[in-house]
Amino acid sequence: MPHISLRSLNVTYRDRRALRDITVDVPDAQITTIIGPSGCGKTSLLKSLNRLIDLSEEARVEGEVLIDGVNIYHPKADIIALRRKVGFLSQKPYPLPMSIYDNVTYGPRMHRMNREQIFQQIAELEKDRSLGRLCPESTRLTARTRRGGEMDLLVECYLRVAGLWDEVKDRLHDPATGLSVGQQQRLALARTLAVEPEVILADEPTSALDPISAKLIEEEFQFLKKKYTIVFVTHILRQARRIGDYVIFLYLGELVEHGPAQQVFTSPRDEKTRAYVAGDIS
Ligand SMILES: Nc1ncnc2c1ncn2[C@@H]1O[C@H](COP(=O)(O)OP(=O)(O)O)[C@@H](O)[C@H]1O
Ligand SMILES: [Mg+2]
Repeated sequence: MPHISLRSLNVTYRDRRALRDITVDVPDAQITTIIGPSGCGKTSLLKSLNRLIDLSEEARVEGEVLIDGVNIYHPKADIIALRRKVGFLSQKPYPLPMSIYDNVTYGPRMHRMNREQIFQQIAELEKDRSLGRLCPESTRLTARTRRGGEMDLLVECYLRVAGLWDEVKDRLHDPATGLSVGQQQRLALARTLAVEPEVILADEPTSALDPISAKLIEEEFQFLKKKYTIVFVTHILRQARRIGDYVIFLYLGELVEHGPAQQVFTSPRDEKTRAYVAGDIS
């Protein structure tokens, strides 16, 4: 599981500094939450971790982000490989303008995964979950015998993982844009997981959702942390308490405090953290 280290990370939009000199290690095999009031730089920090920040033309990044010791800002870094390894779930889901089915297969198709690689990936997915088989025997049989059957298997397995299968199994070829926002976000999760990333970045992924979808997503993250390094941005303190093992507190673009969630929430070292977790500042 990859280890992420930030070294003197600075992000500036034109002449406005959004993040100042952030140096911190993100522990693996845990959920790290990034908390802090709106505008303090949470999204900028998250997007710096897989270079999605490059898409904001005005943004300038200085410093280093090391993933397994390799600086992702090195001029020769492979950005396509990076974005596959480090998946991103945004605040609002943006389904691709295609069917539910094609949304899930999009990543594997783009990465030109072949039939055997897909069967292999599904076998590993099931092993990790130790739930036995995710899909019933009937899906499995047709997967092996029919052309394109591996994609059917992939779609069913990841939609089951994302808790969406039962709601969409009868309309897989309908446009994804017809789903509710909560369903779209679970589809986005299925799409992110389908390329088997090693790190998952999530930017307030439940903030636009109904409570039931939000709970499904939260529960799924509890499960995912066994396998992935997770960085989860939230401005909801109760959510950070529920799911976070480790906390990074940002305030006005600076890293104020970081540490195990228990310590940061119950005995913060910094006065600003204390005020924030007590609800005195927001
Ligand atoms: N694309 C952008 N162009 C200019 N300023 C931006 C851009 N994105 C974010 N900012 C500014 O950077 C600061 C941090 O924003 P952001 O990282 O989105 O914070 P948060 O996610 O905590 O709300 C804010 O002042 C915001 O206005
Ligand atoms: Mg944000």
